[in-house]
Amino acid sequence: MSQTLDTTDGALALDERHLSVVLDGQPRHFHYVWLRDNSWAADDRVRQSGERKLFTGSIPADIAPTTAAWDPDRGLQVQWNDGRAATYSPDWLRRYDYSPAARAARRRPVSLWSATAGEPPWFAHADVVGSTDGQLAYLDAVREHGAAVVSGVPSEDHEVERFAEHIGHVREVAFERVHNVRHDPAGYNVAHTPGELKPHTDLPSYDWPPSVQLLHFLTHRATGGESTLVDGWAALAELRRDAPEHFDTLVRVPVPYQLFSDDEDTWAENPMVQLDTGGEVRLFRFSNQLAQPLAAPFEDVEAFYDAYRHLARIIDSGRYRATFGAEDGDLLTVHSHRVLHGRLPYDPTSGARHLQDVYMEFDDLMARRRVLRGEHRPLAAQPQEDA
Ligand SMILES: [Fe+2]
Repeated sequence: MSQTLDTTDGALALDERHLSVVLDGQPRHFHYVWLRDNSWAADDRVRQSGERKLFTGSIPADIAPTTAAWDPDRGLQVQWNDGRAATYSPDWLRRYDYSPAARAARRRPVSLWSATAGEPPWFAHADVVGSTDGQLAYLDAVREHGAAVVSGVPSEDHEVERFAEHIGHVREVAFERVHNVRHDPAGYNVAHTPGELKPHTDLPSYDWPPSVQLLHFLTHRATGGESTLVDGWAALAELRRDAPEHFDTLVRVPVPYQLFSDDEDTWAENPMVQLDTGGEVRLFRFSNQLAQPLAAPFEDVEAFYDAYRHLARIIDSGRYRATFGAEDGDLLTVHSHRVLHGRLPYDPTSGARHLQDVYMEFDDLMARRRVLRGEHRPLAAQPQEDA
């Protein structure tokens, strides 16, 4: 920074390509092109929706203020060298500050599971569908822990679909909109057998697998069949810490997955681990049963199996696992780009066991959360009555 600011709020310093302004005793830095692009002046916004009307590509590369001043009430007032004027309120500058500290503070809190994590958080159906606070508490749990159980859901056909519509939208996939899981010797999937189902994520055979799964236990009277959940992101954190080369291999090497029936097919080839732009895990696929022959470069094949073996042992270790015996009317939600689900073997002659499940998208659940919290509307940088 070419100029030194005092720490009085509103102190301004103009540099060649950006300005700095003190807010809450801290200097914050904003590029001219960014400020100009995000103007809420009347000509720059669609009045009724707040959408950008200004065409970003038309902002000249040498955009800069001709004058800039601080008003304690209205905030930063800029006269731009393209002839336009705009105001940026203190609250707006705080909300959209893109300093490292501000960006870090906006990251979603994620609580990785440990061996003492116990069962996922439980909620009553009447609260989740009947009250804003109840639904927000449930959505917060899914956001932070990646799983939640809702109890007392009516054991009625397609109730899981009605529940999904309370909190978002069903993501339709191949096979069925509402999937039935019960003992079926002719079923298209290992879930239709009574055997153990190792923890896995569903449908890695899509380029974008469903990111939320709802499993409704309509009837759960059979002996055995307890549900097993594993925090895949916690397992990956251990792998990354202890063997970063193995973690990197799983980020790099694509794996083909397939699930098909007599008349439908899903197939996709992607690395098991995908990262976000901050380098954090965003999407984890893990399905022993659906993996197809690896088609990686010769020199990657053994490295992949070494990494896979290490990760699979962590997943199998129980360190990040929760086990619970569901009862009739329980509905399990998992963030399925993070949490693996499975079940122990059961005896199909000991009693009925019938699940129905649907998929959803995590985006839609988080959107629902923002709407319920009243956080979804953008903040205008200047009063719209000025517009
Ligand atoms: Fe599954």
